[in-house]
Amino acid sequence: MDRYAVIGNPVAHSKSPAIHAAFAAQTGQTLAYEALLAPLDGFAATVTAFRTAGGRGCNVTVPFKLEAFALAERRSPRAQAAGAVNTLKFDADGIYGDNTDGAGLVRDLTYNLDCPLAGRGILLLGAGGAARGVMLPLLAAAPARLTLANRTVARAEALVAEFAAGAGNTPLAAGSFADLAGSQFDVVINATAASLADEAPPLPPGLYAPGALAYDMMYGRGDTAFLAAARRDGAAHLADGLGMLVEQAAESFLLWRGVRPETAPVLAELRRQIE
Ligand code: ATR
Repeated sequence: MDRYAVIGNPVAHSKSPAIHAAFAAQTGQTLAYEALLAPLDGFAATVTAFRTAGGRGCNVTVPFKLEAFALAERRSPRAQAAGAVNTLKFDADGIYGDNTDGAGLVRDLTYNLDCPLAGRGILLLGAGGAARGVMLPLLAAAPARLTLANRTVARAEALVAEFAAGAGNTPLAAGSFADLAGSQFDVVINATAASLADEAPPLPPGLYAPGALAYDMMYGRGDTAFLAAARRDGAAHLADGLGMLVEQAAESFLLWRGVRPETAPVLAELRRQIE
């Protein structure tokens, strides 16, 4: 049987085995998908052992996405832009690295949430790995403008400088949270790690244009601190990152198996389990 896995540390909490089992059942694919705990200093050895044992590919989660990037012998443009890999595929040509996080976000926004990005003003909060990982797919969606705001302004400026050449006609801007005062956006995406500490980025009031969506890449039971603040500030629509999780998994499944699963029933079941 074809074997796949998610490799991380910690990994026991991962929802990926359940998601991929549901995809396999739904598409009639015969495969096994397990969670593999790699020692913090043993990512490459764990991947090699899994591949030698017949593994066909794996997802990679915290804290190994940069090591997976380094391990890949060939990479997709979106992995190259992200500087990180969340999906490895093993074949006769060696180890291929992809990053499906940004595509998962864009698909969740545009397809599940019916929130078009083309021609709209997007604000991305954060300038770490999570923000970098979604830059290329967001720009490819042709927004009217993409603004990055981060606690450490220099990191946002560096990211904007890096992506400026590939931004096409999309105006890119970088600044602090305070710099956002007086601006409005149609889509505000929280890619900071603030929600992990149950904190929200300190945003000025009035950021949300009429009909705007506030999106947190984190998920959990109830509103994150960012979503609670967005609700108070009048955001018309709120969404957490559970849909992104399922959509990035579907993109990985597509890469491995050549079939795109239906995500709606899997997302609905996960939502039911969380709430
Ligand atoms: P990740 O891979 O999750 O993006 P990271 O690369 O460490 O992790 O980046 C964390 C991001 O969350 C950064 O943008 C960080 O801001 P700084 O660059 O100023 O450090 C942001 N962040 C973390 N905690 C935050 C908080 N409490 N409020 C606002 N931003 C926060």
